Amino acid sequence: MPCFLAIRCSRWLDASSAHGEGEEVKRSEINDIIRAGDAFIRSFGFLLPPFAYWSPQQMLDRRAEIGGILGARLGWDITDYGQGRYGELGLFLFTLRNGSEEDLRRGSGMCYAEKIMITRRDQVSPLHRHVVKAEDIINRGGGVLALKLMNSDADGKPDQETGVEVATDGVLRRLDPGAILRLHPGESVTLLPGNWHSFWGEEGDVLVGEVSTVNNDLTDNVFAEPIGRFAEIEEDAEPLHLLVSDYPRWFE
Ligand SMILES: [Fe+2]
Repeated sequence: MPCFLAIRCSRWLDASSAHGEGEEVKRSEINDIIRAGDAFIRSFGFLLPPFAYWSPQQMLDRRAEIGGILGARLGWDITDYGQGRYGELGLFLFTLRNGSEEDLRRGSGMCYAEKIMITRRDQVSPLHRHVVKAEDIINRGGGVLALKLMNSDADGKPDQETGVEVATDGVLRRLDPGAILRLHPGESVTLLPGNWHSFWGEEGDVLVGEVSTVNNDLTDNVFAEPIGRFAEIEEDAEPLHLLVSDYPRWFE
C-alpha cells in the first residue's frame, strides 16, 4: 500500500517517543491513539456518531450510502504535520459535520462545520491562518487551552507590530502581537480569516471544540513554516478505523 500520510512519529499518553526524525508512525500506533483519544472524549460525556466506530470493511460495504461522509471528509484525522514529533507537534481531530463550499459561496444552506479535537499538554498545533474559514475554538474540558495570536501583515505574514483584537465568548479582548490567550474550560475565542494562531494544552490535555464555517483542510490552511497537514503511515496492522486521509485510497 502506498504511504501518503506523513506522521513519522507518534507519542500518546505518557509514552515517550520511540521514534526519530524521518521514521513513519505505525498504523498500530495510530490505532492506539484513536482508542486513547476516544476514551478521553468519552470521559467528558461527549459521544461520537455511529460511523466513528465502523470498521474499514463496514465503510466499504456501505459505500453507496456514505457519500456525505466521504465528500465532506468527516471522521478521524490524526496528524503530526509531517514533522515526526507527534507528542510535541500534533493534533487529534474528528470532523463531526462539514457543509458545502458551494452553499458557503451562495451564502445559504449548510455553511457550517464542527470538529472535536484533543490537544495534549505542551503538544503544539503550529502557527497558521485560514483564508476562508472563521472558527470558534472552544475549551470543552481538561486543562487550559493556550493560543498564540497574531494579525496578518500586508503580505499575509504574521504581523509583529499590531495588536490583536478577538472576541472571547462575545467579549472583545485586545492582545499584544504574539501574546498568549488562555482559555479555561467553557471559554472560547472567535478567530477570523487572517488571524494567525497556534495552540497547545497547559496543565493537562484539553478537549477542544471547533465550530466554524465550511472546512477544507486540503486548501485552507496557511502555515507560517513549511509544514505538511497530513501524515505518512507504515502499515504494520489493519486500520481500526479509516482516517479521513485514507479515504482517497480506499474509495478511489
Ligand atoms: Fe485553525
